[in-house]
Amino acid sequence: MSIAYVYEVSKSTVHLQLSARLDTINASLQFAIAEVIMHSDVQEKLATEVDKVLGSRTPARSDRVKLSYTEAFLCEVFRKETFAVFGVPLATTCDTTIGKYELPKGTGVLINFWALHHDPDFWENPSEFRPERFLQDNGELAPRPDSFLPFSAGKRVCLGENMAKSMLMIILPTLFQQLKFIKPDSFEFSYEDSGLANIPKPYKVCVEMRN
Ligand code: HEM
Repeated sequence: MSIAYVYEVSKSTVHLQLSARLDTINASLQFAIAEVIMHSDVQEKLATEVDKVLGSRTPARSDRVKLSYTEAFLCEVFRKETFAVFGVPLATTCDTTIGKYELPKGTGVLINFWALHHDPDFWENPSEFRPERFLQDNGELAPRPDSFLPFSAGKRVCLGENMAKSMLMIILPTLFQQLKFIKPDSFEFSYEDSGLANIPKPYKVCVEMRN
């Protein structure tokens, strides 16, 4: 993918996107909790890892390398839900090629993150939620798959990637350490109607303290 040859069509799209980033952590948490209540086996594995690595102490940034299942879970949330469906519209600054396509200077391009994350050539049963697809047999994180770009890539990569992942890898273990999330009978999960981003609609969840 030759994103070195693209530039932003409009500064205002970037500013709009910047304000939208304030909601990304919130949306990630909403997606993550929806996935654990729909997959109780996943919630059990998360709780087991957190108990083993942290016990009852507060998570620290240095714990992240030991929380491989939690990180794989977060990757699977980013992949399956892909709330940035498309990237910011860009245009080629010179004649170029991307894959088999020849693109003259000035051609509009944008990344379809949803297609990357649900391509059956790269992901077995892409609609299935399975954190293990990001793990090796020994339980460590697998190398980042080619078709996985939740924060985009190249010059226009997300500036908040490290911050977002660091925050989520503190918040999620804290939640799974202390709470159990249970699906209420009335549970319904759907997205806000938006072509550019997948934003979860508010939903109800039952929460119990873990012993
Ligand atoms: C889970 C959380 C987040 C995800 C999945 C995410 C995803 C993305 C993606 C896919 C892009 C690139 C879109 C494109 O290629 O056109 C992007 C751009 C950007 N993101 Fe994030 N983002 C997240 C959190 C944040 C946070 C917390 C901040 C700021 C504190 C942030 C700041 C930005 C900025 C400034 C850009 C524009 C970069 C540029 O075009 O030069 N993001 N983000």
